[in-house]
Amino acid sequence: IHRREFVVTWSMVASVPLFRELDASAIAEIMRYLNAQSIPAGALIVRRGDIAQSMYFIAEGEVEVQLPTQVVRLGVGQFFGEMAILHQTPRTANVRALAPTKLLILQAYDLQTLIARNPVIGECIREVAAKRSELAPEE
Ligand code: CMP
Repeated sequence: IHRREFVVTWSMVASVPLFRELDASAIAEIMRYLNAQSIPAGALIVRRGDIAQSMYFIAEGEVEVQLPTQVVRLGVGQFFGEMAILHQTPRTANVRALAPTKLLILQAYDLQTLIARNPVIGECIREVAAKRSELAPEE
């Protein structure tokens, strides 16, 4: 699929609620880790069963998480792709863009650094991941 890179801006990072608590220097640091991509509507972003290398924050657009018995929509400010990294498992679901979508991409290695430097953010991401694995129906 055709993925275009674009520049990560301050306001894009600030639009993610998870990062809102951070001071200017912490946001500047996170901006150095993040890459950005434009994803066309309909494109598969994460494939169930794949090995995980990164997680994603939604800066614009909407995605659909395809679980075995339901679909979950995630929008601006939300994130996905954290479960496989934190739990060291293959990707648990397909994730597809529902609209033209802009993503901020964080490599697994950089997530560990970010969590080490910002423990509160790490806690928030872990909590969301735990809640999501409870919701995911067993197969
Ligand atoms: P990961 O397993 O890396 O890749 C698929 C992603 O879908 C997963 O991380 C979560 O970010 C997301 N996901 C899985 N289950 C749910 C759920 N029940 N609700 C919302 N998002 C989910």
